[in-house]
Amino acid sequence: MADGFDGQVVLITGAARGQGRSHAIAFAERGANVVVCDRCEDSPAVGYPLATEADLAETARLVEETGRKCIAVKANTADRSAMDALVAQAESEFGRIDIAVANAGVSVAAPVQSMTQTQWSEVIASNLTGVFNTVGAVSPGMIKRGFGRIVTISSMLGRAGNTNMVGYAASKWGVIGLTKSAALDLAGHGITVNAIAPGNISTPMIHNDQLYSMMRPDLESPTAADVAPIFSSLHAQDIPWLDAAEITRVVLFLADRASAHISGTVIPVDAGNAARVTG
Ligand SMILES: NC(=O)c1ccc[n+]([C@@H]2O[C@H](COP(=O)([O-])OP(=O)(O)OC[C@H]3O[C@@H](n4cnc5c(N)ncnc54)[C@H](O)[C@@H]3O)[C@@H](O)[C@H]2O)c1
Repeated sequence: MADGFDGQVVLITGAARGQGRSHAIAFAERGANVVVCDRCEDSPAVGYPLATEADLAETARLVEETGRKCIAVKANTADRSAMDALVAQAESEFGRIDIAVANAGVSVAAPVQSMTQTQWSEVIASNLTGVFNTVGAVSPGMIKRGFGRIVTISSMLGRAGNTNMVGYAASKWGVIGLTKSAALDLAGHGITVNAIAPGNISTPMIHNDQLYSMMRPDLESPTAADVAPIFSSLHAQDIPWLDAAEITRVVLFLADRASAHISGTVIPVDAGNAARVTG
């Protein structure tokens, strides 16, 4: 499927752990030099721990273990100047960015009637403005070189709504609108822009006490086994969560040079839930 990325440079946001780390290692194993960033700080608006600087260093170590180079920077995608600086550093040290994966994101769970302004602002800043900042920062260099592959990460909640997910779903629907519009802006420059809409992926974003307790308020300390049936019900196939590698293989496909004429699309990887929604 993906032939290899020898000599290419890929930028991945939110790559200290989870799906971003999986993508970083996969690109490095296929010959790319990798640029990763992560905020490496908790947010008072997010009810589970975000990644740490040690997590980011571990991603860099795993990339370098493949023999490829890694630039790893603590940076928040919501901060445009930080993203511009990261791109400038990558272009100066590695010569260019060929591929960008706008992966960083948070889940903020609260119903519309009690979600605070701080919670709303956090989820929109990280999940939507962060994607805009990433695409905006990498595209001028890609235009200059006449080549680019941009992959954004939406969600199955970019295709539907759910309880407690008003901010998250709004941000992920927004990512799809952003992706389609950016695909048109960049269509004449050899740059593709596509979104992936994951189902439940087995990372700390879903495996955390806050979400477990929200799903099983009847239990004092719910475990993964207690919430698995509820996660399964969000998919059509009988599986509670998927491995990050299932997203990585679609990222690699979209980032391939040969995927030149696939742009503005949304690919669901959600164990069949796509069959339940339009679009
Ligand atoms: N896990 C799921 O079930 C699931 C489902 C659909 C979509 N997604 C999306 O997949 C992407 C990756 O999430 P994951 O599952 O690997 O979760 P994760 O929490 O393990 O990883 C997300 C990473 O992004 C970082 N991050 C958050 N906000 C940031 C910011 N503003 N700037 C820089 N870094 C930031 C976090 O520190 C963390 O390392 C996210 O966009 C998420 O919304 C996840």
